[in-house]
Amino acid sequence: MDTAKDKLDSAPRTILLKNYSAPAFLVESVDLHFDLDPALTRVRNHMHISRNPAVENNAEELVLDGCDIELVSIHLNGQPLTQNQYRQEANKLLIPALPGQFELTIETRIHPDNNTALEGLYVSSGMFCTQCEAEGFRRITFYPDRPDIMARFTTTIVADQTSYPVLLSNGNLIDQGKQDNGKHWIKWHDPFPKPSYLFALVAGDLVCKKDSFTTRSGRPVDIHLYVEAANQHKCSHALVSLKQAMRWDEDTYGREYDLDIFMIVAVNDFNMGAMENKGLNIFNSACVLASPDTATDADYYNIQGIIGHEYFHNWSGNRVTCRDWFQLSLKEGFTVFRDQQFSADMNSRPVKRIADVNVLRTLQFAQDAGPMAHPVRPDSYMEISNFYTVTVYNKGAEVVRMLHSLLGETGFHKGTDLYFQRHDGQAVTTDDFIRAMEDANQKDFSQFKRWYSQAGTPVITVSESYDAGSQTYTLTLTQECPPTPGQTDKQPFHMPLSMALFNTVGTAYPLQLDGETAATGTQRVIELTERSQTYKFIAIDQPPVLSINRGFSAPVKIKPARDEETLAFLLASDNDAFNRWDAGQELCIAVLLRLISDVQQGSSLELSDTVANAFAALLEDDALDPALLAQILTLPSESYLADQCEVVDVDAIFNAHQFMRSTLAKKLAEPLLLHYQRYNKKSPYQFSADDMAGRSLKNLCLAYLMETGDAAGQRLCLEQLQQANNMTDSLSALNTLAQHELPERSVELEKFYQNWQQDPLVIDKWFAIQAGSRLPDTLEHVKALLQHSAFSITNPNNVRAVIGRFCHGNSVRFHAADGSGYQFLADQVIALDTINPQIAARLISAMSRWRRFDTARQKLMQSQLERILSTDNLSKDVFEIVSKSLQQ
Ligand code: TRP
Ligand code: ZN
Repeated sequence: MDTAKDKLDSAPRTILLKNYSAPAFLVESVDLHFDLDPALTRVRNHMHISRNPAVENNAEELVLDGCDIELVSIHLNGQPLTQNQYRQEANKLLIPALPGQFELTIETRIHPDNNTALEGLYVSSGMFCTQCEAEGFRRITFYPDRPDIMARFTTTIVADQTSYPVLLSNGNLIDQGKQDNGKHWIKWHDPFPKPSYLFALVAGDLVCKKDSFTTRSGRPVDIHLYVEAANQHKCSHALVSLKQAMRWDEDTYGREYDLDIFMIVAVNDFNMGAMENKGLNIFNSACVLASPDTATDADYYNIQGIIGHEYFHNWSGNRVTCRDWFQLSLKEGFTVFRDQQFSADMNSRPVKRIADVNVLRTLQFAQDAGPMAHPVRPDSYMEISNFYTVTVYNKGAEVVRMLHSLLGETGFHKGTDLYFQRHDGQAVTTDDFIRAMEDANQKDFSQFKRWYSQAGTPVITVSESYDAGSQTYTLTLTQECPPTPGQTDKQPFHMPLSMALFNTVGTAYPLQLDGETAATGTQRVIELTERSQTYKFIAIDQPPVLSINRGFSAPVKIKPARDEETLAFLLASDNDAFNRWDAGQELCIAVLLRLISDVQQGSSLELSDTVANAFAALLEDDALDPALLAQILTLPSESYLADQCEVVDVDAIFNAHQFMRSTLAKKLAEPLLLHYQRYNKKSPYQFSADDMAGRSLKNLCLAYLMETGDAAGQRLCLEQLQQANNMTDSLSALNTLAQHELPERSVELEKFYQNWQQDPLVIDKWFAIQAGSRLPDTLEHVKALLQHSAFSITNPNNVRAVIGRFCHGNSVRFHAADGSGYQFLADQVIALDTINPQIAARLISAMSRWRRFDTARQKLMQSQLERILSTDNLSKDVFEIVSKSLQQ
């Protein structure tokens, strides 16, 4: 084992935003030639390079990145370079003394079939595919692998014709032919200059599902979706979603598609959801394939959103790209915002907002409050793969959403139009994005930009006073942001807060500030910029009820907690659907926090009638959207509750949660059963907002009814398992059943496996249900699942389903007091680190907020983190997360 000092010396280098410098060389064109063989692939890379005229006194040597690739030869302007004309050091190839303009040809060899990290060129289920974002292209050839170098790519692929009849790369197909050795070749050319991270290659025996789209200016586009033959029947939803996305981007942002062909490929082994490679998107098969019998509503919904997300990148990411990886949110935050708007337009808007806010609050707020907290535009990293985070993506989207609120729809689109027009073909920064917004609207967003540079979740304190004599209502808002690693003092943020005031019968007051000549409607956006600001509203004839941060207009926490009467009132009558739901959540939290403390004190548990009565009234309200009702009836998650506690007591939280659910179920059994029956339709599956709403409410009712412990609920559950005509219903029933110690549990789980063993995506659901079960012996089951013939540690979807679900989605079992969950996670991280560091690093966050727990658990987690850190040859990915988690 290394000594502590060796460890420090070998610690990965930290890359700093402030050290950015423009590239000394530019690449005009790249001509790639692949001779594909799983064991040994040859890559020839011919580049036209010139010195960057924007760099003064430019006499630098050329630095190319290259990682785990074998150099065969280098030619400069056709002449071989001898060994004294270049150097190789630590993943770099350096060539000094180069002219202003030259051609460089580099030959390398790589081993795709040993590539389990799934970065660069690898083999998945017998097909070749690539993943180059963020720094995977350097695993294919030597190249200046940074996004501010944009080149025109031509790619020739040579491969065996029988095993790899389909050969794909970016752009348009320009030539093809056969060789007499059983091989064939295809040549692709991408006319749009692009950074290397957008390069893609696919080769395999795939079926092509074809469709087409005509852009609004009348240009025809071929759409090709490539899948394994067995998945042919799972393509139509993705194709429909893609055409919806193409039309939506034209209608909403005025953005048209720009190549003759748009291709999507489904791949079984993939580290993330999907990748926006120019003209050739590559998808995790779980994020593109769907049929009613194998995919749930959540899958359909997710697929539509991800198809949109990757497609929208064609403009927000590809045509205009990032200068460096600190700017990642330039493309990701903006594109997430775009896909959120798209999903909201296609389905129920409030339900989408609730789902997005849930992600933000449970995952991003937690990240912001932990050791990995970083700004939306980070200023340092060791391994960029660790910064594809909920902060960069989801908080980044909230920042763009705030611009939308501040500028309004028209002003926002003036800004995006200017941004796309001004920066088309460039690699730019978040400052450039803001500047376009400012210039198009004559605004000053210098303070607003703190959202990009300051980490942490701001806390807004509300104080109110009412003066009956003058009929004025005074609202004082104070903002504060807690310190985060490396940032102790925070400057105030510029944020839009949407608000309304209600009288006791639920009518919203026209809002008029003291000094204004007229009211400006019953809802308005106030801009908070100071640490503390006061707003005086006039002509308010009663003490009003405040509804603030409507639609979650700013990503902040609001304090203090409101009393239960106010919350019940807003839950019943707020006309902002999001805030109505939010009031219900806050009400449940108040009740749950009391129950948690009762559990801790050993007092007997009792549920007051406030929540049950409020829920009962909502269940009787026929005008209420069933999708919203289902959201309101869903209690805040255990992990969100944990964030509201001083010290996390997992068992008390679990017991309080459990008690509240079963008590509500008993009190509301009758209306829950009525709603179950009302929405338990037998009609064929359709992916529509209405049908999804019905299914979500029905399945929530079923889960509640199972909590009563009555045989009637169990009968419904088993009936649904037998009769379901879609995966949403069968999986909901199976998931509910898996939470209960009933004799049918193992029988049904086994039946499900027998039914679906041919379908790896369904088996992942089967894995996840078992790993997420709250039954006490779950860890033993999880360990057994790792040995199951359908489980492969090299498949990220399998790892996420079993290990990920247990560690991130089963708090009470993962945090078992004996530390068995922590030991299990550390074992898996250490094993996975040598196989796939990106996936290993993502698992660790389950322990990174170890300081939030009781001292016994703190010690157990700390020692497992230290055990991981002391492992030899740890990847940068895992080192960065573990070392930061342990730092004071
Ligand atoms: N750019 C991709 C997206 O957001 C993210 C992505 C896909 C990725 N695969 C990756 C990031 C691998 C890092 C590593 O759509
Ligand atoms: Zn993205």
